[in-house]
Amino acid sequence: MRKIQSYPMCFVLFLSLLQLGCKENKKESELKKEAPNSQQGEQPLAKIVYGEMPDGEKVEQYTLSNAAGMEIDVITYGGIITRWTAPDKNGDYDNIVLGFDNLEQYLQSNPYFGALIGRYGNRISKGSFSLDGSTYSLATNDGENHLHGGETGFDKVLWQAHGKKTAEGSTLILSYTSGDGEEGYPGKLKVQVTYTLTMDNALDIRYEARTDKATVVNLTQHSYFNLSGNFGQDILDHELVLEADSFLPVDSGLIPTGEFRPVSGTPFDFQRSKPIGRDIDAGDSQLELGLGYDHCWVLDQGEGDFGLAASTFHPTSGRVLEVYTDEPGIQFYSGNFLDGSLPAPQGGTYGKRSCFCLETQHFPDSPNQEAFPSVRLDPGDIYTSRTLFKLTTK
Ligand code: BGC
Repeated sequence: MRKIQSYPMCFVLFLSLLQLGCKENKKESELKKEAPNSQQGEQPLAKIVYGEMPDGEKVEQYTLSNAAGMEIDVITYGGIITRWTAPDKNGDYDNIVLGFDNLEQYLQSNPYFGALIGRYGNRISKGSFSLDGSTYSLATNDGENHLHGGETGFDKVLWQAHGKKTAEGSTLILSYTSGDGEEGYPGKLKVQVTYTLTMDNALDIRYEARTDKATVVNLTQHSYFNLSGNFGQDILDHELVLEADSFLPVDSGLIPTGEFRPVSGTPFDFQRSKPIGRDIDAGDSQLELGLGYDHCWVLDQGEGDFGLAASTFHPTSGRVLEVYTDEPGIQFYSGNFLDGSLPAPQGGTYGKRSCFCLETQHFPDSPNQEAFPSVRLDPGDIYTSRTLFKLTTK
């Protein structure tokens, strides 16, 4: 990405075209070849009725599990991961993601805990973008900007679910069709998200989407982690590595200015392991805008390459979370806007910086920033994206 910026414009265009054809927009025939043959040895996944929507529709909860003992609860409302257990260095399991213990609380006020985000993860400036000469207006639900798909994004809709347990692990396939014009976006968008819990404690998330009109798409997962398993503690002692030597500075509305700024010599340098809290209050003007870290890092790997993007280590528990992706960016958010007003099921409330998010994605505001990798999806093409969260200990 950074390298592309310094090349002549025609080369950038050539690379963009190549990338359109190569990564995001695979043709149907290519994807069919990749589909695993999964009919053998399938068993249904454990599920319960989790609650009811105001109109009476049932919300289900599925539990993915593996032989190692990891469990992940997912509800069909928002595709939300409500609980995710992981062993510490002594083999003791704790829940490592923030959430609520009832549907009512998710419906009432949820800052995207555990949710699937779409159609556009992160912000679009002033809720507006143009495509092929038409201008589209989206909800301005974050000051004057659009955030995480609008008023009723993918985090607030009911997904169709199909779960199965196979020799490889547990899989839950979630599907949702977003109507043409929903939340202001053009095109009927058919989305499928597959959560697979593998035998080696990784959650492999694969996204696919198809449209019937040119549109923009940027899907992500919004789990809030605290690897201590104790949500009364902040995450400032967690040590983080981000495989990125630049990040995207933002304006006061947290929209990227368009600059790619090297992290070296700034509080944004996580190229070598560093406690999240070391520089968070360093008095840096970018940190003041986000009240802490709330920025997109530009990953070193080439766009479309699948590789390690981030890794977090909690020294006391020994838990390690690694994030792999084929996306060009990762939003690292240090839970700055949690203010102690939301109840934690185990007692108390969720306080400022009691969690962190690592949201893999294309860059914020890409529909308005031509120098950023494209988020356009055309009819006949398939949007694909993959992120894998792997838990180990050391
Ligand atoms: C954003 C934050 C926002 C949080 C919850 C994150 O993805 O970067 O600014 O507060 O989501 O909406």
